[in-house]
Amino acid sequence: MAGAAELLILILILILAIVASSASVASGDDKDMHIKLYWHDVVSGPSPTAVQVAQAAGTNASKTFFGGVMVIDDALTEGPDLNSSKIVGRAQGAYIGAGRDKLSLMMNMVFVFEAGEYNGSTVAILGRNAAFNAVREMAVVGGTGVFRGARGYAQATTHALDVKTGDATVEYNIYIKH
Ligand SMILES: *[C@@H]1O[C@H](CO)[C@@H](O)[C@H](O)[C@H]1NC(C)=O
Ligand SMILES: *[C@@H]1O[C@H](CO)[C@@H](O)[C@H](O)[C@H]1NC(C)=O
Repeated sequence: MAGAAELLILILILILAIVASSASVASGDDKDMHIKLYWHDVVSGPSPTAVQVAQAAGTNASKTFFGGVMVIDDALTEGPDLNSSKIVGRAQGAYIGAGRDKLSLMMNMVFVFEAGEYNGSTVAILGRNAAFNAVREMAVVGGTGVFRGARGYAQATTHALDVKTGDATVEYNIYIKH
């Protein structure tokens, strides 16, 4: 009798395992994710994470940053405060001043996760960032690791801007299908 009971339990476990695996396959086909991060552009001080590498000659150059190129390795944190929040990754890439008459940045960066469940995975973000607008939407054009084949968008809102130094903290909400 004990043998029959054991067999029954085994069958039950097998059925549960099949149900669980088919459920994960179904959600794996089209997963929606929302990730919220804070992006810290530190241009001032002894160890800036955003450095200017090019600049256009001409009168509009300083007003709208047209023709300027910044290379960044900005910290990405869980909360808004760079000093006390957990660093979850880096935003590596470049942004260029692409607006002649109004500030409009062309962002070209990879969010590299270095902690938590996404450690080692990346999300590629490309798009126009009119940084003085309240909400700027950019495209998520791909990803690696957990985010392989990612598509989606990112919305950026400025959390803090130090007008004296130019240091900025921007909230990024990333919506990904993968
Ligand atoms: C973070 O730390 C730096 C240097 O230690 C300090 O100058 C800055 O005011 C701090 N920022 C906040 C938001 O506490
Ligand atoms: C992230 O992954 C790297 C490489 O596998 C590993 O060395 C590192 O310790 C991990 N970091 C965290 C915070 O888990």
